[in-house]
Amino acid sequence: MSNSNSHEKIEKNVGLMAVLIAVAVSFGGLAEIVPLMFQAEAIQPLEGVKPYPALQLAGRDVYVREGCYNCHSQMVRTLRFESERYGHYSLAGESVYDRPFQWGSKRTGPDLARVGGRYSDDWHRVHLINPRDVVPESNMPGFPWLQKNTVDGAQVAARMKALRKLGDPYTDEEIASAAADVAGRSELDAVVEYLQALGKHAPRGG
Ligand code: HEC
Repeated sequence: MSNSNSHEKIEKNVGLMAVLIAVAVSFGGLAEIVPLMFQAEAIQPLEGVKPYPALQLAGRDVYVREGCYNCHSQMVRTLRFESERYGHYSLAGESVYDRPFQWGSKRTGPDLARVGGRYSDDWHRVHLINPRDVVPESNMPGFPWLQKNTVDGAQVAARMKALRKLGDPYTDEEIASAAADVAGRSELDAVVEYLQALGKHAPRGG
């Protein structure tokens, strides 16, 4: 049969097979990814979601630098036990200004997408310096140097400018006051500020 012959030809020719696999996968990828780039749901911020204010932006950078994402995801899945534990499942419109996003799938520690407001600032400060002071069985490492490092205002302003080039609607005033907004604040202050804002604009309930 000619049909099985052509199958045989493809299966016996590694080069041709590889090209055809690449074509099939790219087509599938395009069909899935391209529509998302135009879907309002995926590119419009949820109500109230704004680009990160200076101190939160600095905290987010520390979060990425310290590799918190190696143990913490920031995406509540659409599964009942997830939303019962953490809160409303994550929506694309919450992460419009997250570059790069911190969704992840590694959960040595709990998901942090809804951690804002769950603890006091003081709890976070103690916990980040030495987790075992508040959670005796914790195997999270301490980050004591964060309280000694000061946030660099010029760098935060430069980052805001770069993000504005990528389309984040920062105003001139926000960029101009960035250095003053973070003046004298430690990296610990910045991370706590960032953590306390996580999930702030999520819909209520499960
Ligand atoms: C090696 C893995 C690991 C790393 C890296 C890590 N954590 Fe954790 N984290 C954990 C574990 C495990 C817990 C649960 C025990 C506890 O509360 O300490 C946790 C708990 C937390 C909690 C409390 C969450 C809750 O809902 O109770 C916060 C907030 C947190 N981590 C923030 C951070 C931040 C910020 C960083 C980076 C500066 C970080 N973690 C890095 C493992 C990690």
